[in-house]
Amino acid sequence: MSDMNDVRPVAIVTGGLQGLGLGIAEALIGGGFRVAVIDLPDEPLLPDTLRNDACRYYPMDIARIERHADVLAAIQRDFGRLDCLVNNAGIAARPLTDILDLDAAAFDRSVDINLRGTFFLTQAFANRLLASGAADPPVYRSIITITSMAAEIVFTDRSQYCVTKSALSMMTALFASRLAPDGIHVHEVRPGLMRTPMTASVGNDTIKRLLASGRVPIPRWGEAADVGRTVLSLASGALPYMTGQPIWVAGGLNIPRIL
Ligand SMILES: NC(=O)c1ccc[n+]([C@@H]2O[C@H](COP(=O)([O-])OP(=O)(O)OC[C@H]3O[C@@H](n4cnc5c(N)ncnc54)[C@H](O)[C@@H]3O)[C@@H](O)[C@H]2O)c1
Repeated sequence: MSDMNDVRPVAIVTGGLQGLGLGIAEALIGGGFRVAVIDLPDEPLLPDTLRNDACRYYPMDIARIERHADVLAAIQRDFGRLDCLVNNAGIAARPLTDILDLDAAAFDRSVDINLRGTFFLTQAFANRLLASGAADPPVYRSIITITSMAAEIVFTDRSQYCVTKSALSMMTALFASRLAPDGIHVHEVRPGLMRTPMTASVGNDTIKRLLASGRVPIPRWGEAADVGRTVLSLASGALPYMTGQPIWVAGGLNIPRIL
């Protein structure tokens, strides 16, 4: 599979078996990257688009932070290099629960996966890049975290999701500041209403109503490929004087308005 003389850059995509993560992995492969997909199942049925010599699968629950070092080491050994981490894995708030009724177990589960798992995977990846020294010839290296419109927009029935996504926004700014002198760019991508298995499981028609009401200026669902293209642009270094800021992929949903 992986050839140590292969000069194609290498990206890790967490939660890459379906939804936005799969769209990101497909876009990166299409754009000339090799991709290490991390997800939960030990022996998944890989989507056809991931069955090729540019892709390899690694089972890991990102909440198990004691496994991060071994899995990152295996990926670097298998591919011979690391260039990009895409923090995409995350869980939604299910069932939807009013903030006044949310229990600590549901809160902790979101924090463990969305925030704690992502934070320490980012830290481990950053330390591994720094330990590898500067690439020769220089290459664009990046960490890209998929947050959500919920990092900024309030949903009182999924407060644990909002809180973790908002914290990931600050995490992006922190790592961006710390790693910029070492030439590592850190980006936040904020999707809006995206058509994925996650949104299919909401269990009510809020999203359909929002789209029908004209609340989204570009009046359609966002697709995984929309996020994939954005991540590919960032990971390829097409926007080299940017770091630490949110990039909305939301059809204009982020434009403040009262009517
Ligand atoms: N769908 C949307 O509308 C939307 C909007 C904004 C942000 N997002 C964010 O985008 C990301 C992907 O969302 P999606 O809609 O594709 O979700 P999804 O539920 O369809 O897919 C998530 C993937 O992550 C994996 N995963 C979950 N927990 C994991 C863990 N602990 N360790 C490793 N892998 C894990 C799942 O197995 C799955 O393959 C999430 O972070 C989500 O919060 C989604």
